[in-house]
This record gives sequence, C-alpha cells and structure tokens, in this order.
Amino acid sequence: MARDPNFSPTALAARAAYLLRGNDLGEMTTAAPLLYPHMWSWDAAFVAIGLAPLSVERAVVELDTLLSAQWRNGMIPHIVFANGVDGYFPGPARWACAALADNAPPGRHTSGITQPPVHAIAVQRILERAHSRGRSTRAVANAFLDRRWNDLVRWHRWLAEARDPDERGRITLYHGWESGMDNSPRWDGAYANVVPGPLPAYQRADNHIVTDPAQRPSDGEYDRYLWLLEEMKSVRYQDELLPATMSLAVEDVFVSAIFSVACTVLAEIGEEHNRPNSDIRDLYGWAERFRAGVLATTVERTGVARDYDLKAQRWITAETIAQFAPLLCGGLPHDTERALLRRLEGPRFAGHPDLRYALIPSTSPVSREFRATQYWRGPVWPVMTWLFAWAFARRGWAERSQVLRQEGLRQVSEGSFAEYYEPFTGRPLGSMQQSWTAAAVLDWLG
Ligand code: SER
Repeated sequence: MARDPNFSPTALAARAAYLLRGNDLGEMTTAAPLLYPHMWSWDAAFVAIGLAPLSVERAVVELDTLLSAQWRNGMIPHIVFANGVDGYFPGPARWACAALADNAPPGRHTSGITQPPVHAIAVQRILERAHSRGRSTRAVANAFLDRRWNDLVRWHRWLAEARDPDERGRITLYHGWESGMDNSPRWDGAYANVVPGPLPAYQRADNHIVTDPAQRPSDGEYDRYLWLLEEMKSVRYQDELLPATMSLAVEDVFVSAIFSVACTVLAEIGEEHNRPNSDIRDLYGWAERFRAGVLATTVERTGVARDYDLKAQRWITAETIAQFAPLLCGGLPHDTERALLRRLEGPRFAGHPDLRYALIPSTSPVSREFRATQYWRGPVWPVMTWLFAWAFARRGWAERSQVLRQEGLRQVSEGSFAEYYEPFTGRPLGSMQQSWTAAAVLDWLG
C-alpha cells in the first residue's frame, strides 16, 4: 500500500532539484541513474523543462548536448550515450551506428532510431522562464535559439519528410521504442508479425536493475526489439530503405499529435523571434497536415484516435492513453471533443472508481490487455500527466489542467520520483529517481 503524502511542496521541489543534480553528468542528465544511465531524447526535453526554473543556463546545455548528436539527415536519435558508461543494453556496440550509418554524427555515440518530438515545447518553456529573469539569462536563451533554430527546423523537416513521405499526416515508426511506449498493447498486433531471425547473443541489463519481471517487458518482447535493430543495421539505417526492410511499420497517432502541436509551438517561437518566413510557413503547414492526419484516424461518435498498422493494413484499437491524441493537437468537432473528454474523465480511464488518483492510466483498467504493474500496459506515468496538463492549459482548459497537476503532485509526493505508478495502490514502480518525474514536479512547483 502506498504511503500517505510525505513531503510538502517546498520539500518535494528541493528533493526534485537534488535528484536532477545527482543525475547530472555535466553536460547531460541521465534519464535515471541505474536503469537508463545515458541521455534519452524525449527525457532530455522534459528534463530541460524541469531544469529551466532552476537554471535556464543549465537547461540550455541539456538541449545543446542533445542537438550536438543530431544526425546529418536531421533525426534526433533516441539515445545519446554518455562516454565510458556501461550498464545499459543495447549499448553503442550493438547499435553500431558509427560504423554503419553515414548519417550518424561525428564524435558522439547514439542509437539509430528516434523518439517523440516534444523538444519545441521545452524550448518554449525555457524562453518563458528566461523572460522573467535578468538580461544576461534572456541573452543565453536567445543565443540558444539563434544557434539551434535551423537544427530544430531540420528535425521537424526530417519527421515530415522521411517519416511521412506520402503526406498522410501521420508519423511512421519502425520500432516500438520510437513511440516511447515500448510495450504498450498498441503494438502487440504489429509485434506479432515480427519473427526474429538468428539474433547475435545478448544479455538484458534492465532486468538486473528492475528485478520484478511483472514491471518490465518480457524476454519474448526483447527478442523482437533486438531483431528490429538487426533489420535496420542490414540497411545501414538508411531512411529510404526502411519501408521495404522493416517487419514493423506503424503510423503512431500519438506521436503525430505531438508533432502537430510541436510544429505550432515552434512556429509561434519563430514568429516571436523573427525567424525566416519560409520556416514558419512550413511549420504551420506541417501542424495542419498532421492535425488532419490525426483527425482522420478518429472514430466519429467517440473521437477516439487510432494507430494504423502499415504491414497488416489495419487500424489498431487497443484502449490506451494514445486514444486521446486529438486533445493534444485539437481540431475535433466540439461535441466529439466533449465526448472524448468524458471518456478520459470517465470510468474507462481517469474516473475509474478504484484508482488511487484521478489520473490517466497508460492502458485502460477495463481493457483485457491491462496489467497494473507492467510498464506501458497500465501504470500511470507522471510525465504523461505533465504533458496532458500542459496541453489542457494551452487549450484553455485551466481547471482540467489544474486537476491533473494537483493529482499528479499528490501521486509523487511520497518522494521516490518513480518512472511509473500502480494505478490502484499508488505504489511507485520501475526505476526510481527518474529525471523526468522530478522535472515535471519542478515545472509544476516552479
Ligand atoms: N525504453 C527503452 C528501455 O527500456 C529504450 O528506449 O530500455
């Protein structure tokens, strides 16, 4: 049973700041000290959001480090490896990007896949924080934007072009890890069609750190994760060859919605900071294309959004948090949007009567695929609470945003800053001292 809230807001914020300091390797913050001892792409964006109220300067360093590992084609890789740090699998040797991929960056080891594009949101938060500071801090934030604007636009252009070549308004993923929601039931059908061939021997490292197998993906899932790496390596990670090579290809509606809103956010930043009109036009164009792409997946009556399995050519109907993608980017007819909000707040999700906190579980507790402790199959992820609270505030739903923030804070006030939480008991699960959980707290309390 979870303990009752232990820490006052002030004490909790102090602990969160201490945690980020502890996970700081100098130029990057590890996603978590043991389970994820390197920099992850979307973690880094959220970490920057949490660092900004402490130090805009340090937040900027985080994003600079990430962008220094951007690939030549524009991709931001999902992991930037810390030099000389072991203990994570698959590490740089298994990915072999430096040896195989012409697009891999010089001087940094990275993975060869990508992750959700939340970075523009971080840039906007940093600029907002800098705005209320002194002149020299504002100058640091502005200099960052000058230095990195082109890289940020290149990143968005790569997503729009390499991952949506037919302009359907949806991002294609070739690995479940690219969604950030590795073992979500969203991907079960697609992974069922991934048949691992002869795999080079390997040993998982994650299950030595989180030792309860009910909290992590299974060995069978890992075989498939690793097989997809071998497929990518066989074509040296070349974007144009992935569609014909990969045995998993899905259009991710949640990533597409994030991309749409991130394009709008970046365009707004560009307008405020006098960036080239052509960039701003492209960004608004992508925002619109991907909003339409997200809306095209929705069920008419409920507004529920669906991923699409490109290999099997079928809609994915798993009942997960991704169903609420249209609430992030907007665009649903008013009545449908109300219906989707009622679903989110009703007994299938955050209003389930047995939940300890009124938060959105990663998978619906009433779905057959629900597992209360297993990674993306049920637990509540504080970083998702942050994302929806942020989006709701942006959409003008201040009260809804406030409820998520308050419930999110109640959930984490036990003080372990877990990666995810058991929805019914509130028990902290997965990795402890997760950087992005601390970051969410710092933004909420900052
Ligand atoms: N989340 C994956 C892991 O658990 C990798 O991105 O290792």
